[in-house]
Amino acid sequence: MKAGNGKRLLINEVATRDGFQMESRFIPTDDKVALIDRLSGLGYARIEVTSFTSAKAIPALRDGEEVMQRIARRPGVVYTALVPNVRGAERALESRIDEFNIVMSVSETHNLANLRMTREQSFAQLTGVIALAKQAGVPVNVSLSCVFGCPMEGEVPLAAVRGWIERFAALEVQGVTLCDTTGMAYPTQVQALCEGVIAGHRRMDWTAHFHNTRGMGLANTVAAVEAGIRRLDMSLGGIGGCPYAPGATGNVATEDVVHMLQCMGWDTGMDLDGLIAAAAELEVLVQHGLSSQVSRAGHRLMRHAPPADFNDIVARAQARGQKELHP
Ligand code: COA
Ligand code: ZN
Repeated sequence: MKAGNGKRLLINEVATRDGFQMESRFIPTDDKVALIDRLSGLGYARIEVTSFTSAKAIPALRDGEEVMQRIARRPGVVYTALVPNVRGAERALESRIDEFNIVMSVSETHNLANLRMTREQSFAQLTGVIALAKQAGVPVNVSLSCVFGCPMEGEVPLAAVRGWIERFAALEVQGVTLCDTTGMAYPTQVQALCEGVIAGHRRMDWTAHFHNTRGMGLANTVAAVEAGIRRLDMSLGGIGGCPYAPGATGNVATEDVVHMLQCMGWDTGMDLDGLIAAAAELEVLVQHGLSSQVSRAGHRLMRHAPPADFNDIVARAQARGQKELHP
């Protein structure tokens, strides 16, 4: 779908990582592979397939290698995975990942809760991962958690966010994802923060990652795009959340975000009808209702039939009109 303004957005699906890590039911490996294969044909720039984390920390994704090995890789789609440490990077390399999505939090408390390391310990691990990636010629994106606030610390100082960005920029990572881990971001904050960091590093690939915990996810997405963000993480059906962040709920839903952006004239490259159909499949897989809205309501121009007695209504209205004209 070509938009009038010619502006392209790159859409990243995270349902099979951010989403499945939060599901209480283990999604069978066959179903993960089938879903990813289906999503691969819908226009995504990037699919976060899994994470290479400890099976104790994230049991839902303990089959990362098998999933990576069995999916059909569609040319043009980047298949990425979340990597917290050198052990994870070794596993990701063996799985011939297209990109490392390394992760740490800008909040010390959340980093300790989620990754069991201080931020400095995480940075040391991730420095090792970046060295490995350079040797192997694999690009690196860093996902920074809690950029817009921490559920345990509250506001995270902007200086801390900027400081971690500078340290990763110095290591020449290709991209940075600004993660709103528990939906604490609000639109004016998003706009100011995104504009500021983009101005500091124009050649960095910036991505925004919003959770809809407080209903601000779509507004935050618009704010980020207006600030110049062109890559967005989102999750089919709005599933997702960090199991080690209190109060975490799902990501912004892919079908809701794509629908909104397409209405606004953005070229997302995505097949919206395909997304809605895939969301119906996902609902069966996770065995609970989804929080997304467009998967239920359909496209804004989806036409509904008038009421069953519509002809009677018209006839009565016409008869009333005749009486009024000729009393
Ligand atoms: N993949 C698989 N196993 C790993 C691993 C990885 N990346 N990193 C460590 N392990 C294993 C170790 O081999 C060790 O196994 P053993 O008990 O059989 O000897 C065990 O996990 C503990 O290792 P340790 O280095 O002490 O890790 P830890 O317990 O301090 O946990 C992390 C650190 C980072 C591995 C763990 O907290 C983690 O995976 N967190 C991810 C959280 C997450 O994904 N959150 C949501 C996304 S934001
Ligand atoms: Zn997330």
